[in-house]
Amino acid sequence: MSQQIKKVVLVTGACGGIGKALAHKYAAHGMTVAIADLSESKVNHLAIQINDGGGTAVAFSGDLTDQDYCDSLPLKVEQQLGRIDVLVNNAGLMRRGAITEASDEDFALSMAVNVEAPFRLIRATIPLMEKIDGGAIVNIASCWGVHPGPNHLIYCTTKAALAAMTKCLGRDHAHQNIRINAVCPNEVNTPMLRTGFEIRGLDADDAIKTLNDSVPIGHIAEPEEIADVVAFLTSDEAHYICGSLVEVNGGKAVY
Ligand SMILES: NC(=O)c1ccc[n+]([C@@H]2O[C@H](COP(=O)([O-])OP(=O)(O)OC[C@H]3O[C@@H](n4cnc5c(N)ncnc54)[C@H](O)[C@@H]3O)[C@@H](O)[C@H]2O)c1
Repeated sequence: MSQQIKKVVLVTGACGGIGKALAHKYAAHGMTVAIADLSESKVNHLAIQINDGGGTAVAFSGDLTDQDYCDSLPLKVEQQLGRIDVLVNNAGLMRRGAITEASDEDFALSMAVNVEAPFRLIRATIPLMEKIDGGAIVNIASCWGVHPGPNHLIYCTTKAALAAMTKCLGRDHAHQNIRINAVCPNEVNTPMLRTGFEIRGLDADDAIKTLNDSVPIGHIAEPEEIADVVAFLTSDEAHYICGSLVEVNGGKAVY
């Protein structure tokens, strides 16, 4: 009887709202989770939590604005864990406001984390996936990258770039059995959304209750509802899906 292969998934931004849901979900599916995020202590803490819960997780903390970190991370994961089957480019940041309020630093940082890091990670991952006859990559873009929302010029621009990158790559690498897709959520109940309310002096729970009324399905997404779709796209059941932008929005259009 052949031994079952334990698949390996690399999740960036794994200590954030959607990232944690992804890390726990993949661990529950029996995959080894390579946890990447900025804070070494948070990454170590999450790895311990998953390992204590019976899963397998290994910490790979680092800053995605560091080009060397991005270029070398997939190979480090392969060297330490034997292979890399799935990459989820989930890390991201949101700088708010119109172009006239945007600084050079806002633009450079957003491009580095939301666009350049996925570019570098995917470039380094594809040869490693090719060696094992395939793999799956999901980029967490945004509905706002497909239908720009108001007053988030830089964020929408970066997510549109990531969406375009996904469509190009989905086409270019399907012949290697490497499927590349994007999930485009609308609002999700995570620190990214909640801090936006807090910056404006609003109570995040109250603001989310109000926001829930604007969603046809009745509530904004919980991180697990996004993780479910990502997990599907990286599963064998999605083996024919390449270069798709999957909007996950509870029926709510961007306006
Ligand atoms: N929350 C939403 O409403 C929403 C909607 C659409 C898309 N998204 C996207 O989903 C993804 C996850 O967002 P979230 O809502 O869970 O946000 P979050 O802020 O909870 O998590 C983002 C994570 O990315 C990490 N990160 C940021 N900069 C980094 C860097 N330089 N190096 C390494 N890691 C870095 C952060 O440390 C954090 O853990 C993001 O790409 C975001 O743009 C979120």
